This record gives sequence, structure tokens and C-alpha cells, in this order.
Amino acid sequence: MKSFKHIFLVGMPGSGKSTVGRLLAAELSLVFFDLDAEIISSQGKSIAEIFSEGGEELFRKIESETLINTINKETPFVMAAGGGTPCFLDGMQKMNDAGTTIYLDTPIDLLLSRTKKKQHRPLLGENHAEKLKELLKTRKDCYSKANYELQTKNLELAGKIEGILKILAD
Ligand code: S3P
Repeated sequence: MKSFKHIFLVGMPGSGKSTVGRLLAAELSLVFFDLDAEIISSQGKSIAEIFSEGGEELFRKIESETLINTINKETPFVMAAGGGTPCFLDGMQKMNDAGTTIYLDTPIDLLLSRTKKKQHRPLLGENHAEKLKELLKTRKDCYSKANYELQTKNLELAGKIEGILKILAD
């Protein structure tokens, strides 16, 4: 396996970044960070509270600062980025410079069913299905700048981990 620094999982809300990231980190004996959780603990506020206080602009600023602070930690880690992290304030570039980025490409029907009931995604709000489809459309280009892409369709959790380990072994 090549020597790597940090590993970043990127992709749409509902693509399984956190679940896969946590297991991948355990598999590789690395620390795991969920960027949303880091934001919540550093700010002492929920994502929804940050959006309602300062809108998306404030959230992206905090998200970018939290990304940089986490990247600067010495120990290699696995991070589940937020869905929009790579697409604002040079997020993808920052992650590509700091390690390996892997895009979890997940079919829209799965994204839809997995994100329906979650409360921490103010961007989806009402008209959830239309907003999610629109987000995916506008972010495709950005996600395509990840170092690697894993098609997660038809893959169980173990298959996703196997796929990522294969990518990292190249
Ligand atoms: C966002 C996705 C969320 C969270 C915030 C914004 C986005 O993270 O960072 O609500 O812009 O797609 P998940 O991808 O973990 O849901």
C-alpha cells in the first residue's frame, strides 16, 4: 500500500460517507473525523442553528476553517466531508493537497431514501427530492475532481470498504 496522508470521503448527503469512513478508519487503524460533527463540537451549535444564524455563507466559512484546522493535525486520518465541502472555498483542492480524495458515487434513488428523514441538512428542507436532484446536478463537476471514484451501486458496506482498500493499494 502506498504511504498516504489523510483520506477524504466526498459525495452527496446520503452517500454513506460517515458510515463507510468510520469503518474504513477502523480497518486502517486511523483516526476518524466527521466534518459535520467537528463543526458542531467546535461551534457548540447544530448545523441548522448555524444556517439560521448566518445562512449558507457563514456555514461555508466555518466549514472551511474547520477543514483546515483538521487537515493540520499531524496524525493521518479518514474524514467524512460534508456534501458541499469540496464545492466551496477551494475545498476539493485543499483536500487533494492534503491527501487522497474518494468520491462515493451513489444513485439518486438511494440518496433520496436515505436523506428523507434527516434534520441536519437545512439545504434540503422542503421539496427535498427536487433540491437533492438539483444539488447533484450542480455538484457533479466538483465531485469529478476527486482523485478516485467508487461506484457504490449494488455494494454492501463490506464491498465499499474492499473497493476503497483496492483503490488505496494501487
Ligand atoms: C451539506 C451536507 C451536510 C452538511 C450541511 C450541508 C451539503 O453534510 O454539511 O447540511 O451542502 O450538501 P452530509 O453530506 O453529511 O449530509
